[in-house]
Amino acid sequence: MKIPFFILSVFLPLLSAASKHDSPQDLLRSSCVHASYPGLCLRTLSSYSGPTNTPRDLARAAVKVSLTRARKASSYLTSASVTGKSKRERAALSDCVEQVADSVDELSRTLGELKRLRGETFEFQMSNAQTWASAALTSEDTCLDGFERVDGKVKSDVKKMLMNVAKVTSNALYMINRLNESHDRHQLNP
Ligand SMILES: *[C@@H]1O[C@H](CO)[C@@H](O)[C@H](O)[C@H]1NC(C)=O
Repeated sequence: MKIPFFILSVFLPLLSAASKHDSPQDLLRSSCVHASYPGLCLRTLSSYSGPTNTPRDLARAAVKVSLTRARKASSYLTSASVTGKSKRERAALSDCVEQVADSVDELSRTLGELKRLRGETFEFQMSNAQTWASAALTSEDTCLDGFERVDGKVKSDVKKMLMNVAKVTSNALYMINRLNESHDRHQLNP
């Protein structure tokens, strides 16, 4: 069946207008699609218990997910560093404990900026948030690098856990950049 052009010309603009007022699910999907790890982005943020209605919500939610996982990794590492089998393993683990503690601290600072965003200091705060989140990612990567020379079950557990933390942090960094480029910035009153 051929659709008369005049009908298309009425409905196509309506369709594109509708997509500008994204439903939360649409916003989530369109925000995750170009994240570093899109599947993980969708899974973690669609099961997030807080609000995910705006780019600002999504950036906060992504950082919270990352913070929660970094804290979990931190307590795992702290106990593993005591029970480590070899000297080399314990050394790698105790380095990691520090790096992941740094990452927890950096992610808390990131979240702090995102919680207190104001229109008049938006640029500065976003630049801080980006700096802290990149620092967190670097700390996580440094921990992973330290495990290259260690073998065994602890290594694979730590790697799995830290790789997951680094992936959600990388997604959080992407959400921060997206928030910086979104129109949300104009809705923050000074
Ligand atoms: C945020 O966006 C502005 C304008 O596009 C840009 O100049 C600035 O470098 C960006 N800041 C961050 C932290 O990405």
